[in-house]
Amino acid sequence: MASTTDAARDIFTTGLHNAHALEQQALQIMNRQVERLENYPELEQLLRRHIQETEQQRVRLEEVMSQLSESPSALKEAVQGFMGNAAAIAHSVASDEIIKNMLANTAFENYEIASYKSLLVMGDAAGFSNLTGLRQSLDEEVNMARQVADLVEPITRKYIEIGSRGESAKI
Ligand SMILES: [Fe+2]
Repeated sequence: MASTTDAARDIFTTGLHNAHALEQQALQIMNRQVERLENYPELEQLLRRHIQETEQQRVRLEEVMSQLSESPSALKEAVQGFMGNAAAIAHSVASDEIIKNMLANTAFENYEIASYKSLLVMGDAAGFSNLTGLRQSLDEEVNMARQVADLVEPITRKYIEIGSRGESAKI
């Protein structure tokens, strides 16, 4: 039977892989969105900044993985059900794409917050004392979630305004 430490380490390893897969997915979703936000420069700017942060977050996860002698490709990164759905929403090219993406972004950032909170508990249980990088990633997600939430109302107002001028919602 595996010792408690081994079990905790396995749990943390799986958590790291899941978090890494989540960040990969975040990058895909944001990179896709950012090309279509000519009318919404505030959101475009925010996403561009968070793309850079997310790339750092991915590196931080890889650094912890390497301490465990793990690499991101060592395990297949499963697409997570919930985020798969959010990604499908982000794929949409409906006229209300901006609204759907904004709601998906809000869900995604909050999912990431929960993911890092959970991961930090796992790391702690596995005996990792230096999790400063992951804590920083959590702080960044909290900050991003707040900024995305703050844009829900102004972006909706702008969407209505653009719609009432008879323009496309996207361009
Ligand atoms: Fe994020």
